[in-house]
Amino acid sequence: MFWNALAAGALLGQSVSAQNMLRFACSQLTIERADPLVTPGQAPAPHTHQIIGGNSFNLTMEPGVYDPPAKSTCTTCTYSEDFSNYWTASLYFRSPENGTFQRVPQFANVGLQQDGGMTVYYMPYSAVNNKMTAFKPGFRMIAGDPMSKKNNRVSICHRCLGNGEGFAPCDAKDTGELPNKYCPKGIRATIIFPSCWDGKNLDSPDHKSHVAYSNSGGLGSPKCPSTHPVSIPQVMYEIMWDTGRYKNDAWYGNGKQPFVYSFGDATGYGQHGDYLFGWKDDSLQKAMDALPTGRCANANCSVLKIQSAKDSMACKKKQQVVEDVGKDGSWIKELPGGAAVTYA
Ligand SMILES: *[C@@H]1O[C@H](CO)[C@@H](O)[C@H](O)[C@H]1NC(C)=O
Ligand SMILES: *[C@@H]1O[C@H](CO)[C@@H](O)[C@H](O)[C@H]1NC(C)=O
Ligand SMILES: *[C@@H]1O[C@H](CO)[C@@H](O)[C@H](O)[C@H]1NC(C)=O
Repeated sequence: MFWNALAAGALLGQSVSAQNMLRFACSQLTIERADPLVTPGQAPAPHTHQIIGGNSFNLTMEPGVYDPPAKSTCTTCTYSEDFSNYWTASLYFRSPENGTFQRVPQFANVGLQQDGGMTVYYMPYSAVNNKMTAFKPGFRMIAGDPMSKKNNRVSICHRCLGNGEGFAPCDAKDTGELPNKYCPKGIRATIIFPSCWDGKNLDSPDHKSHVAYSNSGGLGSPKCPSTHPVSIPQVMYEIMWDTGRYKNDAWYGNGKQPFVYSFGDATGYGQHGDYLFGWKDDSLQKAMDALPTGRCANANCSVLKIQSAKDSMACKKKQQVVEDVGKDGSWIKELPGGAAVTYA
């Protein structure tokens, strides 16, 4: 949950210097079937997403045309110049007794104050000589793949909380699958994005090929491939699911567990995250440049503007695709969009 680059570097057996990173909360903006990256303009999109960041989030956000910092009037993130949008699938509990679904509530990560949403990281893993190039306006990318039937634990992983902390995310104590045991302290889902860029394209048809991992997926090493030579901040999401309330021995074990992602995946290999850059002006570059100086770390970066937790939680956006996606503990008969429950 809380760890630092030095500890993670040591665990990876790399010589990562003791550098700071950004680690901050973004509360829920909206939960709806919208996806401006994969299905722009489509209402409804195939499955439910939970979305955080700038309130200019929209069904269509054309790269280089739609400018989130200019269009947003608030953000759910700690850093008030960050109007990016970050989104992932929602998680549902499917009652083994009657097959109805309840959207799993969330809780705040260690040391942070937030209303749902995620913890967002910008990390310096692939930085060479402490230099990283921040994303350009219009940049977007996806990590993970909803169609995946393969374990990719180093980038997409789950932690059954309460097994000891302080080790790197997506290490061997985590699982690619949703844990098939009861997790009284919750399940943390982690999504790790690539840390290298081709230096040219803001996007690509699969929203992936313009970026690359430096280290066969997962946390980076200070070395980008020659096809993608530019070191970018390594973005990571953490989502805290409050699974402790779903306690019943009969629901877990022997390969069983009662949770399913909004697109029907009950194994968890298809968990994925979408990123759409929207920091104001050169604020992210300034923060990345300040990481090695010690003046910028976690949720207290002195070169960025910080808003109160109250203000970040007050930023909300009404659903544009109006429907019940499972609000405040309600039970719904099927996953929004009607995805069938599948296993890898
Ligand atoms: C979002 O898209 C709709 C429909 O295209 C448009 O009317 C609206 O102005 C957009 N919102 C913002 C904040 O630009
Ligand atoms: C379905 O089962 C869950 C427990 O698994 C229960 O809380 C809920 O009330 C049930 N709903 C109906 C309609 O029976
Ligand atoms: C944030 O950093 C400043 C110095 O840059 C320090 O004075 C302040 O105590 C820090 N706040 C927190 C909450 O760590």
